[in-house]
Amino acid sequence: AAVVTVPLLRRMKAEQRPIAMLTAYDASFARAMDAAGVDAVLVGDSLGMVAQGRSSTLAVTLDDMVYHTASVARGLRRPLLVADLPFLGYATRERALDGAQRLLGEAGASMVKLEGAGPGLDVVRCLAERDVPVCGHIGLTPQSVLKLGGYRVQGRDSTVAARLRADALALQEAGASLLVLECVPRQLAGEITQLLDIPTIGIGAGASCDGQVLVMHDMLGVGHGSRRPRFVKDFLAGSGSVEAAFRTYVQDVHAGVFPAHEHGYD
Ligand code: KIV
Ligand code: NA
Repeated sequence: AAVVTVPLLRRMKAEQRPIAMLTAYDASFARAMDAAGVDAVLVGDSLGMVAQGRSSTLAVTLDDMVYHTASVARGLRRPLLVADLPFLGYATRERALDGAQRLLGEAGASMVKLEGAGPGLDVVRCLAERDVPVCGHIGLTPQSVLKLGGYRVQGRDSTVAARLRADALALQEAGASLLVLECVPRQLAGEITQLLDIPTIGIGAGASCDGQVLVMHDMLGVGHGSRRPRFVKDFLAGSGSVEAAFRTYVQDVHAGVFPAHEHGYD
């Protein structure tokens, strides 16, 4: 298969071929995802929670992101590699450019992701103008947990929904190439997906997005016990192996079977 590029993701949206994305943090799991046909891999700052055992993503540093991104990059051949800019790692253009240089130039990512719009739009424009592919991320933005007061669905009321629609368009206009929608009602996620030319990748955002992403540990059933969020499906149960779980996830996303209705929010 051809190496996944930004234009290929655009084409997949146009052809309504869903994009299957997972997070990874090391080379071995990255290699298994590559073998399973995952289209895009995200080194998320969720590593602060799933790898470092913290209660939020806020303490993750650019050095942490570079280390894990470089490790993941060594395991991948085909998937597009996206890496998160950490909390306050794009508070100024200078910091964002430094982060992009390290994640793309040093570690081997092909795209950086940052959360929110507002002041971030300026940074997205700055990066995109310098040919750094950018993925936006709106809805539930975990780096805002202190302000949000917890992790919950965003955009159920019409004011927030209108802001999310406007933010999505503004991010596209600023030059973003991809947009993650996290924990937004399925109908709103579908509307935003229709509004945009760039692909949307949903997590807890229903089946109408152009692609899906899950945290690797979540979809392997590691870590949540009985408090698993509703958008998570355990793909290891019944698959028999980690690689089979990744393969089933890819097949189910490509076929539009995952997420099912019960994995989304009204
Ligand atoms: O850090 C992460 O894993 C993410 C995804 C959940 C989108 O940002
Ligand atoms: Na993240």
